[in-house]
Amino acid sequence: MLPSDTWHCPCTWYYAMEINLTVDGTARVSKPDERLIDLINRIGLKAPQVCYHPQLGPIQTCDTCMVEVDGKLVRSCATRVEPGMNVSTTSARAVAAQREAFDRILGNHMLYCTVCDNNNGNCTVHNTTRLMAVEHQKIPFKTKPYEVDNSNPFYRYDPDQCILCGRCVEACQNVEVNETLSIRWEDPHPRVLWDGGKPIGESSCVSCGHCVTVCPCNALMEKSMVGKAGFLTALPKTALAGMIDIVKAVEPDTGYGAILKVSEAESAMRESRIRRTKTVCTYCGVGCSFDVWTKDRHILKVEPREGPTNGISSCIKGKFGWDFVNSSERLTKPLIREGGKFREANWDEALGLVARRLAEIKARSGPDSLAFISSSKCTNEESYLMQKLARAVIGTNNMDNCSRYCQAPATMGLFRTVGYGGDSGSIKDIENASLVIIVGSNTAEAHPVLATRVKRAHKLRDQKLIVSDLRKHEMAQRADLFIHPKPGTDLVWISAITRYILDNGLAKTSFLEKWVNGLDDYKKSLGPFTMEFAAETCGLPIETLKKVADMIVEAEGVCVLWAMGVTQHSMGSDTSTAISNLLLVTGNYMRTGTGAYPLRGHNNVQGASDHGAMPNYLPGYQLVDDPEVRARFEAGWQVKLPSTKGLDNHEMIEAIHQGKVKAMYLFGEEISLVDSNSNFVNEGLAKLEFFVAQDIFFSDTCRFADVVLPASPSLEKEGTFTSTERRIQRLYEVFEPLEGSRPDWRIIQEIANRLGANWNFKHPSEIYVEIASLTPIFAGVTYERLEGYKSLQWPVAADGTDQPLLYTKQFNFPDGKARLFPLRYSEPTDPVDAEFDLHLNNGRLLEHFHEGNLTYRSAGIREQTPDTFVEVSPGLATERRIKTGAWVQLVSRYGQVRVRALVTDRVEGKELYMPINSSESPVNRLTSSFTDKVTHTPAYKEASVRMLVLGENGESPLPRGNPRFGHRTPQRGVEVERKWKRPDYRVPGSPMVFHATKTKANGENGT
Ligand code: SF4
Ligand code: SF4
Ligand code: SF4
Ligand code: FES
Repeated sequence: MLPSDTWHCPCTWYYAMEINLTVDGTARVSKPDERLIDLINRIGLKAPQVCYHPQLGPIQTCDTCMVEVDGKLVRSCATRVEPGMNVSTTSARAVAAQREAFDRILGNHMLYCTVCDNNNGNCTVHNTTRLMAVEHQKIPFKTKPYEVDNSNPFYRYDPDQCILCGRCVEACQNVEVNETLSIRWEDPHPRVLWDGGKPIGESSCVSCGHCVTVCPCNALMEKSMVGKAGFLTALPKTALAGMIDIVKAVEPDTGYGAILKVSEAESAMRESRIRRTKTVCTYCGVGCSFDVWTKDRHILKVEPREGPTNGISSCIKGKFGWDFVNSSERLTKPLIREGGKFREANWDEALGLVARRLAEIKARSGPDSLAFISSSKCTNEESYLMQKLARAVIGTNNMDNCSRYCQAPATMGLFRTVGYGGDSGSIKDIENASLVIIVGSNTAEAHPVLATRVKRAHKLRDQKLIVSDLRKHEMAQRADLFIHPKPGTDLVWISAITRYILDNGLAKTSFLEKWVNGLDDYKKSLGPFTMEFAAETCGLPIETLKKVADMIVEAEGVCVLWAMGVTQHSMGSDTSTAISNLLLVTGNYMRTGTGAYPLRGHNNVQGASDHGAMPNYLPGYQLVDDPEVRARFEAGWQVKLPSTKGLDNHEMIEAIHQGKVKAMYLFGEEISLVDSNSNFVNEGLAKLEFFVAQDIFFSDTCRFADVVLPASPSLEKEGTFTSTERRIQRLYEVFEPLEGSRPDWRIIQEIANRLGANWNFKHPSEIYVEIASLTPIFAGVTYERLEGYKSLQWPVAADGTDQPLLYTKQFNFPDGKARLFPLRYSEPTDPVDAEFDLHLNNGRLLEHFHEGNLTYRSAGIREQTPDTFVEVSPGLATERRIKTGAWVQLVSRYGQVRVRALVTDRVEGKELYMPINSSESPVNRLTSSFTDKVTHTPAYKEASVRMLVLGENGESPLPRGNPRFGHRTPQRGVEVERKWKRPDYRVPGSPMVFHATKTKANGENGT
């Protein structure tokens, strides 16, 4: 069974057709290929359907959607419309079948709605009971011989309430594609199984929450809901059991109708205290959006529903990683350093001091002695105001954000070749590719929801996958072809296969002729990139390289995804350019299923750059040295603007050491841990004459500050974020700012005004009006167009037309043509030698975000993943006599850290890997100050260390309950056919034992 909700025949003529049929005696028109259940729902008929979820497709486990079609009973979820069909949802046979099916469900589920935390108006079992006006159940409820499973920190499973609909299994197998869940239909008492029968907490479950989100009842529930949502649900278990018994006792006399009325009254009362607010995830750049359910300041649950990027999907961080918001460690008072210590201050005093000191230093040393760093975790409006403060109020372009640490090289590669510094299309376009190539990205952990779409297309639609990485991470394990080049050599193999394709007449000549400039010069630059050179330099067999080239040439559409494994190299910009060159040579732009997808790390790293938090660009990538651009901003802001490029993050630190930058204002960035060569960075921060750090916690960076200002996290503010898809989305205020803290945009405005500006923004929407008026690529962005779950993907024309897929008409250069960009290779920096003999790689972990300031404050995440570690290959572990848990000292040319070892075959030979989430042992004590030559992005991935074994053995840094120790149980989905084969299974409404057949149109099973 293929849940084919997002896969359609691209032939437009097919869509033009209409299907005429009759439903419940009324003539109806349907689209071809529409599911009968979708038509029934679209026209507003109320028909039962318990297991159907549009984003899961038909899983056919519940049988409650039975309808009569031309005299035959069929499941409406698994039946496609056909011309002339005569459908009845209410015939006696259909209704009898529906009732019988639902009766079986009630045999598996006790209705105790009034004391159930899921009684919130959206329980499918409750609502179906009411819809079908069930008064008494024929099949009595029977408990199952299993205990409630509470072993996961975030959710619990109650087998007794489980109706065996299999939605969770389908979501885990085919949407999340973690392949943990199954139902063994052959068991006498089937239930949902984790890894085939392990406790949840010992399984491969990654706590993404898909299963919990789609569960139609209370069988799977967020622990944060349990005992918290209802008025009566917090009662002790014994009292609850007593109440349930009373309800059950009256049911034979009163029927369910009267009982449901009581529970619905209770549910209505909940509406007054439970709020549901839409927000956008604060963690990674995928841009998932969801409703946050809250009761006062308690988060009941996060519910992904209809986000344009994620639908029902989330990962552990977005679904469960929000404890930090109510952490007792939140800053709620400004702090001022005095006599080497911090003391609390009031806002007026702190802001006054900030304004006075910034003004003094500007007056004494000039505007370029000040530097500003914006946050990729904060909103577009906040980045806009920060760069406006730097430029319009102070008069400097010393303005940057953390895209300098990750994505600037990718942006450069795209600027050079295709013209826009953003992903070519949407995640849907990646799904449509026939071949996806992932280079230097641990996508399943760093961009989990985006990875689910690749895993799904790979599993269900035969999409091919090539992964190039140093580590055999999940995507590498799933790949059709996994290649492991020597560190820092991606540019070579990519250029070599591009040359091979050109040399062998395999390039897309028609595309090159029509759409691409610079072929001759580019070809010349490819001279050194022979297959032999690549094989030697990258350590890859020529046959493997040819295979990669052949797979690319044979594919109908290729998308390349890359991330920090490419960009954080001294050749990061050039390797990103090489990827884009390869796509151009093979004609893989300008249509869905093709293109370049650098995956943005932080939730708003794209937006921070887009909105001008860069030293050379005003908002919308308008150059600061373009007089026409400056004139427009000068007119808008009524000031004279600086015209020369400012300092980037890396240059700022150098300039502090040189005494040129004397003051810095930074918000929402943990620069002291996340910049490379952190000892050097921290020495620089300590030298600042005046340093303002604005954050929600007292971060490591705050240690160096003179003034610390307490800010509010995303759940306490409004504004917009821009995801990796260039998708702009609104976030709404879930909570009021914690008393004492303020949203960053308000703080920045206060400081600007104390420095003489006269800004009067009352709401972020007013800031966006100004942004749109000055920035052509955001001309049509308005809060109205972004209302609720609506979104826009830039560039957005004044009439609101956006561009989910770029370059459909032309590339973003004056002549509309792309440009091949010649490249040269140079050796990686900080190489291994006899003294520093091990290569050290680093990156993200699924559970933690970046340095972990937010995620370590989630008790559940800490329980599963309490610390960082260094991954050591089995070979090296044997050689050095290291076991998992052994303490080792890693020493580089720049610093040292002490960390526990984790022996794993995810790494090979003399390559180590350290997750970046640690403030005690930050990997950046080991990294160098070498950078990408073009963008100054630190070459984090080029590091060499020696490893000293400290001789003490500790516990495994990953506890047994970590999902990495689980064993997945992949299967095609819920595999309902196995249920139908049970000897006790009978199609409702039919005396016959059911045998699965295939319907002609779609391969789904019908009756
Ligand atoms: S991985 Fe875990 S949380 Fe995610 S769908 Fe599977 S069982 Fe549920
Ligand atoms: S736990 Fe799974 S099978 Fe059971 S009711 Fe929930 S979604 Fe359905
Ligand atoms: S961290 Fe990324 S993938 Fe996970 S929910 Fe947030 S946006 Fe989605
Ligand atoms: S909705 Fe459950 S079988 Fe169709």
